[in-house]
Amino acid sequence: MAKAEPLAAIVLAAGKGTRMKSSLAKVLHHVFFKPMVMHVLEAIEPLQCDLKIAIVGHQRTAVEQTLEGTGAVCVYQAEQNGTGHAVLCAERALENFSGNIIILCGDSPLLLPQHLAEMIESHRRSGSMLTIITTKLDDPTNYGRIISDEAGLVKEVVEEKDASIEQKKISEINAGIYCARKEFLFEALSKITTDNAQGEMYLTDIVGIAVKSGLAVNKYIHPEPSHVLGVNSRVELAQAHHTIRHRRNLELMNAGTTLENPQTTTIGPQVQLGENCTIGQNVTISGTSQLADNCIIHAGAFLNNVELGDSVTIGPNAVVEECHLKGGSTVAPLSHMKRSDST
Ligand code: UD1
Ligand code: MG
Repeated sequence: MAKAEPLAAIVLAAGKGTRMKSSLAKVLHHVFFKPMVMHVLEAIEPLQCDLKIAIVGHQRTAVEQTLEGTGAVCVYQAEQNGTGHAVLCAERALENFSGNIIILCGDSPLLLPQHLAEMIESHRRSGSMLTIITTKLDDPTNYGRIISDEAGLVKEVVEEKDASIEQKKISEINAGIYCARKEFLFEALSKITTDNAQGEMYLTDIVGIAVKSGLAVNKYIHPEPSHVLGVNSRVELAQAHHTIRHRRNLELMNAGTTLENPQTTTIGPQVQLGENCTIGQNVTISGTSQLADNCIIHAGAFLNNVELGDSVTIGPNAVVEECHLKGGSTVAPLSHMKRSDST
């Protein structure tokens, strides 16, 4: 993707994620074989940012280790005083940067690069200081609501906990993804307060601050409402996993694999399938498994880190791990094979 002017990204990943009811930091919970924050880093990769910053706090060391190799600079937010405070923590790391900054939440693993690129393009075209991503949800509960004026222009974002009964009925929500010019961003952040129901510095307040200073806030309406999902609970964690698994299954079917019941099939992101394989229902294939052409995997099989030659048949409910099976082999139903060499 072509880049017109410098672009930095800030990924917010310091929060505990209280609603997950977990001892593990929220952004480290796995969604489709990876910590959810890694999906966010992958979504911004094609944008070729000049600088990537991750705000870390809760379980800082574990989050930093997870982010190793992504090129993100980790900045520590010692106390989690809200999303606005989290972005303020990045100010020093951005001292020598000028240009646009995109801000994303580490708990939004379903975003795709093309929509982020479209949002940045819309921001540049608009000439605005601030662009936000919004979308309409059938159930907007827990998201920040977009308050607009009679002309449909964005006025402010109101969080669920601060919203009136009338405001809670608004279905247009804040996706938690922003693109702002650096000089505007930190000027606006210097004005936010903790005067709200949660006593936190809300990043969302920069929207109202822009409007009050006479600046129009541009919005990019996300064309796929389900992609803005912010994972705050185990239910949303399962939804995110399901969505990415389904995307992967569609890709595989479009590339020529038969999935007999795709709703029940899990094929990990690093798995490679040859041509014309058939996968029965309730099959899981994970790790770095490689299947050559014409393999048949019957219902209920579980394969992890396997290498299968051409036309291998795996019987129903077999468990095969770390094995290399020669072309034409057959594995009996219900067998359990682990780490045997070439059979
Ligand atoms: C936030 C938005 C809300 C939006 C929603 C989209 C605010 C105030 N609200 O709400 O309008 O609809 O996302 O999913 O921004 N974090 C930190 N440091 C902190 C607090 C949070 O790094 O001090 C990180 C969290 O780790 C998380 C992200 O910021 O990755 C968002 O925080 P979260 O508590 O999930 O905000 P929401 O209530 O979902
Ligand atoms: Mg959230």
